[in-house]
Amino acid sequence: MTLNDSRLLIVGAGLMGAGIAQVAAQAGHEVSLFDARAGAAAAAKAKLAQTLDGLAAKGKLTSEAAAATLARITPVDTLVSADVVIEAIVEDLDVKRALFAELEALLPSDAVIATNTSSISVTALARGMQHPERLVGMHFFNPVPLMKLVEVVSGLGTSPDVAQAVFDLAGRWGKTAVHARSTPGFIVNRIARPYYAEALMLLQERAAAPEVIDACLRAAGFRMGPCELMDLIGHDTNFAVTNSVFAANFFDRRFTPSLVQQELVDAGFLGRKSGRGFYRYPEGAPALPQ
Ligand code: NAI
Repeated sequence: MTLNDSRLLIVGAGLMGAGIAQVAAQAGHEVSLFDARAGAAAAAKAKLAQTLDGLAAKGKLTSEAAAATLARITPVDTLVSADVVIEAIVEDLDVKRALFAELEALLPSDAVIATNTSSISVTALARGMQHPERLVGMHFFNPVPLMKLVEVVSGLGTSPDVAQAVFDLAGRWGKTAVHARSTPGFIVNRIARPYYAEALMLLQERAAAPEVIDACLRAAGFRMGPCELMDLIGHDTNFAVTNSVFAANFFDRRFTPSLVQQELVDAGFLGRKSGRGFYRYPEGAPALPQ
C-alpha cells in the first residue's frame, strides 16, 4: 500500500505533538496542528520557531530550512480532514476513542489514523471504530526530533498494509521503526517500567534523594537517571501510563503505581513542562523536601 500522505493532521500540540510536527515538517510535509485547548497549537508553533532558530544558530539547519519548516506548520482551531492523522492527546482510552469517532466522521475512508499512545491497547482503542483496520500505533519517543526509535504497534484489527505504510513513513522521516504487537507497554515501556518503579520505591523508602539516584544511574552508563527522565516525560503522562500498564497486566504487583507519582500529580509538579517535578526548571535544582 502506498500511503497517501499529502495532508497530515497532528492532534495534540503538547510535548509530543509539537515534536512530531517539527519532524514531519522538516521532512517536507504540510502539517495541520490541532489542540483542544484554545491557543495551544499556535503557542506550540511559536515555541517551535524558537527551537528552529536555535538549531539554525548552531548551524544544524540553514536559516532558510528553518523558515521553510516553520511555514509548513499550520495551527488549526478545528479538526480538519486529512490523509494521515497522528494523535498525540492525553493518555486516556475514552478521550482517544471519542476523538477517533469525531475524526471518522470527517476523514475519507482510506485515511490512516496513527496513535502515539505509550501504553493503551491499540486493539481496545480501535473498538467501535467504523474502520478499525486503519488504526495503528506510531509510538515516538521524547524528545521526538532527537530520538530515532518509532514502535509501529498493530492491534488485533490493524491492517498489515497500514502498519507497513506507517513503518515506511517513519523511515522516510529518518527514524528507525520496529513492528510490535499491541501488548501492555509495547516493547520499550514494558522494559522501562521497572526502571521508574524501582526508583520510586527507593524514594518512598527514603533510601536516597532523586539527584543521588540519577547520578548513580548516569555513572552506571544510562543516558538519564530515572527521576530526571520522569520529569522529562511529565508525571501526569507517566502516571497515566503506569496505571494503564498495571491494569493491562491484571494488576501484577510488579507494575504497581507509586504514591510518589500520585503526590506529584496532585501537586501539579508535572516535571519540566510545569517548571517543577523532582527538580526545578530551568535550573534543575532539587525541588522536593528530603
Ligand atoms: P501533553 O500533556 O504534553 O500534551 C497533550 C496535549 O493534548 C495537550 O496540549 C492537550 O491540550 C491536548 N488534548 C487533550 N485532549 C485533547 C483532545 N480531545 N483533542 C485535542 N487535543 C487534546 O502530553 P504528551 O506528553 O505530548 O503526550 C501525548 C501522548 O503521547 C500521550 O498518549 C502519551 O502517552 C504519549 N507519549 C508521551 C511521551 C512522553 O515522554 N511524554 C512519550 C511517548 C508517547
